[in-house]
Parts: sequence; structure tokens; C-alpha cells
Amino acid sequence: MERLLNIEATSYCNANCSMCPRECVKDYGYISLQTIDDLIEKIKKYSLYEISISGRGEPTLHPQLIEIINKLRKLKTTISVVTTTDGLNLHNYKEIVDSLDMLRVSVSSIDETVFKKIHKGLDYEKIWCNINNLVEYNPKKLYIHLVGGKETYSALEQTVKFFKNHDVDNIYLFPLWNRGGNIETQENLELRKRLVKEYGINYSEDEYLPDEKIKMLKNPNYCPIGDTSIAVNFHGEMMGCFQDFENITKICNVFDDNDFITDRTKVLKKMPVCKKCNSYNQVRK
Ligand SMILES: C[S@@+](CC[C@H](N)C(=O)[O-])C[C@H]1O[C@@H](n2cnc3c(N)ncnc32)[C@H](O)[C@@H]1O
Ligand code: SF4
Repeated sequence: MERLLNIEATSYCNANCSMCPRECVKDYGYISLQTIDDLIEKIKKYSLYEISISGRGEPTLHPQLIEIINKLRKLKTTISVVTTTDGLNLHNYKEIVDSLDMLRVSVSSIDETVFKKIHKGLDYEKIWCNINNLVEYNPKKLYIHLVGGKETYSALEQTVKFFKNHDVDNIYLFPLWNRGGNIETQENLELRKRLVKEYGINYSEDEYLPDEKIKMLKNPNYCPIGDTSIAVNFHGEMMGCFQDFENITKICNVFDDNDFITDRTKVLKKMPVCKKCNSYNQVRK
């Protein structure tokens, strides 16, 4: 099976988004180029459909992001960065877009009041200036992650309109996850379904979870979300799940001589972080 590799460039972030359990993050740092080299050696025998540079922090704050992307090219698969665009500016955005296959932009709203409520700590003017530059420069490389949950729905139509008017085809409505049990989420799944249809956008899980894995959600002892992804943090440790913001489910690290995937599959759905995790239910349509 092909998997998504989620690499944490850094656990640092300037923001404190309403849905993100930043308070759980206790370890801070940046991934080193040596760890990237070790990871490449370790991971090259596995089949990956995408490497997503994301993790618990903001990847564009890593000063060597371009070098990391260039090294990962050895793995010959699609490379993306998940970002609010906080670390982008007039000098670096073109080089970063050019180095990637996809730039996954997390955004809550075009409405300033909604944006400031969700993306706390981020500068609305700066982020939307970056987004304007990105849609002008290369809309086809952009994948828009509409995040923040039901509070963003009041201005969802305008937000979607902005991207559609700029020829962005890939727009996904994200669910709200209870990452590690610290976020209270009460999402109306019917409403989400209606909005996806009404605005002609997509569910995020349509992109990330193959149909056969969605069917396996019926099995309470199997977690397709964990199984289809591999998460490596900035230390070079493989985490039990990318939802583990406290980093308490380390399975092994890139320097060990063990089997990444087998070791982790054994613990999926059985880790402390799984107990209150609602990802499982939130991805049901
Ligand atoms: C943790 S962030 C890291 C990358 C970057 N800082 C960003 O915000 O795009 C990765 C993604 O998770 C999303 N996210 C954060 N908390 C979430 C939650 N509780 N449920 C669903 N998605 C969430 C973010 O909006 C972002 O799209
Ligand atoms: S969602 Fe991303 S930008 Fe927001 S606080 Fe979490 S890591 Fe930072």
C-alpha cells in the first residue's frame, strides 16, 4: 500500500489557531539536514504517494526548507508543504512554489473577523497578501485546505468564490479533529456535506483516504487514518500518529535498525492518544 509521509520541519509556530492543540507541544526544534538524509535511507524501501512537509508547527519557518525539499527529491514522489504561508514573503515565495509539486495552503476565511478568531496570532494583511501573490503566480499548484470548522461557514461562500475566481481548482473542506483529545469538536456532518455540494468543493478525506480504507472505518479495531500515513517529527522519531501533538507515542527513530511500518501498525488504535481521538468518526460522510 502507498502511504503519505508527513515530515515535521519544525514544531515552532507563531500562531495559536483556535482548533490546534498547540498547548500540548512541549518539544521545540528544527529538523536537521542530517536527519533528512537518514530518513531518506530508512524510508526509501516503502511506497509513498506523497511527502507532505507539515507536522505540529509551521514549516515555512524552517530556514533550510528549500534544501530539505531538494534532498527529498531523491525519493521520487510528489512533495507538498502544508502552510498558513506565514514564513513566505516577496523574496522567497516563487522559489518555494517552484521547488514543490503542491503547496497546501491552510486558510480559515477571507473575512477578517472570522480569520482573526480562528487564525489567532497571524497577521491577516500579510497572509492575504501572500495568498494573493500565490494565486497570481501559480494557481494550479495550490491546494486550499479550508480549516477552522463551523465558525468559518458564515463567510465560506466568499472565501470559495475568491479562489474559484483565481482559477484554483483544488479546494477542500476539512473536518475538525480532536487531536489527542484536547479539542472539543461538535461538527454537523450533514451541514458539511451540504456546503461541499453547494459550493462545488471537495471533502479533504476524498484526497487522503482511498475508498477501501473508508469502508474499513466500520471495523472499530482498525484506524485507516493512522495506517495510511507515516509521521516523523523534527527529532527524527516516528510518531504513532500525526495527531499526537504531545509526542508521547514514539515508536522508533530514523537511526534505529527496525521496521518502521510493522512496528507502528501493531499499536494503531491502541495508543493513549487514540482513546479520545475523534478523527475516526469525523471522516465518516
Ligand atoms: C498542524 S498544521 C501544521 C502546518 C501549518 N502550520 C498549517 O497550519 O498549515 C497542519 C494542518 O492541520 C490543520 N489543523 C489544525 N488543527 C486541526 C484540527 N483540530 N482539526 C483538523 N485540522 C486541524 C491546520 O489547519 C493545517 O491545515
Ligand atoms: S494550525 Fe498550523 S498555524 Fe495554526 S497554530 Fe497549529 S501549527 Fe500553527
